[in-house]
Amino acid sequence: MVQDVVAEQSASPIALPKKIEVTLRVNGEDRRLSFAPWVSLLDALRDHLDLTGTKKGCDHGQCGACTVLVNDRRINSCMTLAVMQDGAEITTVEGLVHNDALHPLQQAFIDHDAFQCGYCTSGQICSGVGLLKEGKAHSVDVIKELMSGNLCRCGAYPNIVLAIQQAMGTDGGTR
Ligand code: FES
Ligand code: FES
Repeated sequence: MVQDVVAEQSASPIALPKKIEVTLRVNGEDRRLSFAPWVSLLDALRDHLDLTGTKKGCDHGQCGACTVLVNDRRINSCMTLAVMQDGAEITTVEGLVHNDALHPLQQAFIDHDAFQCGYCTSGQICSGVGLLKEGKAHSVDVIKELMSGNLCRCGAYPNIVLAIQQAMGTDGGTR
């Protein structure tokens, strides 16, 4: 009798919400997908779309490793739910390449050796691209301040700033 009650309680303590259909435009391609309501955009990209360039560091908005562009604005993808982005345009580090050419900031990271282990790099680059689009980074100090949400445990900060400065010179932040 007691066993029956325990089994009943553990079977379904609360009804689970159904999956929700959304359309995400990811790197220029419409993707119609179903997610449980609690799936983060980060997990949607990595686990459902196999876009593993976007990295999971802290998973709670502290490190910037998961930075992507949503409607051209940089955000921490671990801090938003996939179902909240229905209809949004998402750009990940993979989507910055055009016609087999690296984005000027991707090339600048290579030119300036702006990484060591590389774990933070895709987030740094997406954040940097967002920064260029914002058009506010007019000095080294401002670049440092506006990139302060992207941590680099390897301490590649000086070269990251140099890479951003190079990209600012080559594309004027308009791409
Ligand atoms: Fe999103 Fe760290 S993984 S901010
Ligand atoms: Fe290693 Fe930034 S290059 S964490």
